[in-house]
Amino acid sequence: MKVTVFGSGYVGLVTGVCLAEVGNDVVCIDVDQNKIDNLNKGNVPIFEPGLDVMVKENMAAGRIKFTTNIEEAVKHGTFQFIAVGTPPDEDGSADLQYVLAVAKSIAEHMDEYRIVINKSTVPVGTADKVNNVIFETQKKRNVDIDFDVVSNPEFLKEGAAIDDFMKPDRIIVGTDNPRTAELLKALYAPFNRSHERVITMDVRSAELTKYAANAMLATKISFMNELSNLAELLGADIEHVRNGIGSDSRIGYSFIYPGCGYGGSCFPKDVKALERTAQQVGYHAELLNAVENVNDRQKQVLVNKIKTHYDDNLQGKTFALWGLSFKPKTDDMREAPSRVILEALIDAGASVRAFDPEAMVEAKRIYGEKKGLTFVENAEVALSGADALVVVTEWKNFWSPDFELMKHALKDKVVFDGRNLYQPKLMEKIGLKYYAIGRGRI
Ligand SMILES: NC(=O)c1ccc[n+]([C@@H]2O[C@H](COP(=O)([O-])OP(=O)(O)OC[C@H]3O[C@@H](n4cnc5c(N)ncnc54)[C@H](O)[C@@H]3O)[C@@H](O)[C@H]2O)c1
Repeated sequence: MKVTVFGSGYVGLVTGVCLAEVGNDVVCIDVDQNKIDNLNKGNVPIFEPGLDVMVKENMAAGRIKFTTNIEEAVKHGTFQFIAVGTPPDEDGSADLQYVLAVAKSIAEHMDEYRIVINKSTVPVGTADKVNNVIFETQKKRNVDIDFDVVSNPEFLKEGAAIDDFMKPDRIIVGTDNPRTAELLKALYAPFNRSHERVITMDVRSAELTKYAANAMLATKISFMNELSNLAELLGADIEHVRNGIGSDSRIGYSFIYPGCGYGGSCFPKDVKALERTAQQVGYHAELLNAVENVNDRQKQVLVNKIKTHYDDNLQGKTFALWGLSFKPKTDDMREAPSRVILEALIDAGASVRAFDPEAMVEAKRIYGEKKGLTFVENAEVALSGADALVVVTEWKNFWSPDFELMKHALKDKVVFDGRNLYQPKLMEKIGLKYYAIGRGRI
């Protein structure tokens, strides 16, 4: 089948390459010339496990092409995926300018039937807006070409994106048109073999389903973070509590890890956008508001522990910082807790020696030459000359460090762990002062 994907970021690139992998003829289009030039040279601009090999293989097989040419892209695919960004607007609502610009481009160049598929995370009512833009643009062109707009939100996780796309838990198809639903089902058939994963519903419900999923996951995290703060005050250990409640099948173990706050390109902006959508229809979404506030506060928890330990005087202190990406297995630093933490430390007069296995390029792009911030080549080098260690992202290679080396390298022999990676008793035995999240009795 012929597929066009607008936007070659985390979602668009994975969508394009996975659809190509199963044999489709895919054109990926982006407005970022540099990104497309790199992709055409076989250089994948983001880190996502397995993605670079798949891009190269599918390019070599002639199943995927990258372009900035809108006309060529619109003429190519019966399926036109929209996978561009929907960043937060000033008031927190999703900024739809990129989505609607793509809709306009499609309408300006289409000359036969097209299915326009919203894969970007968009507020309820966006499909209607996309419909209107296409309708009005066609009217200006004096043409009346058949098209359908479908909501097909994406649920992939960065770090496991290819697996998630290839073996999705569900494929949501929002449309009132049974013919369009069948076409989408046919396109997704290769990812739907073991059992039926396609769930069809009306467009508005599909749009809301995506926000509901992210808001639910963010709620679980904020709930646990709230409890971790309480556990500290009560002298309980949140890790025991986590085990105790995770074993309840109604609760489950996933997304109940306490930590220094959630980040990333989705949860923060999607919770905000859903809150804003609620406001627009006159509803005060109290729970969503609390989820967001708890998370903002949680990003300060490590900073507060550090300041308390040093009696509010960080002047001249040097911190090794492990982990910059908002979670492991990605280089994405959008809304990452690391940013709040390192900026707070530097603002308070400290310096930071930062290391991340994959996000160094992104961090350098964001911060450039920032006073007080040094990027180093590995975790051990970060420790040398540092007074204390701050662990922010739970990359696998931070789980079992050489604690003796750590102890000798850190001048103040203190570790602030935002992900509860280590055993408090072991740290005490080694002779390292250890601060974690919600582990009151340590
Ligand atoms: N990143 C995730 O884990 C994830 C998961 C599920 C859903 N989503 C949603 O998917 C959407 C895309 O997210 P992302 O993380 O891939 O964003 P991204 O910022 O990585 O990529 C977006 C791309 O769209 C391009 N673009 C902008 N305007 C364009 C236009 N008019 N034509 C062609 N390309 C254009 C940008 O240059 C950029 O390369 C968002 O709505 C996001 O909420 C993201």
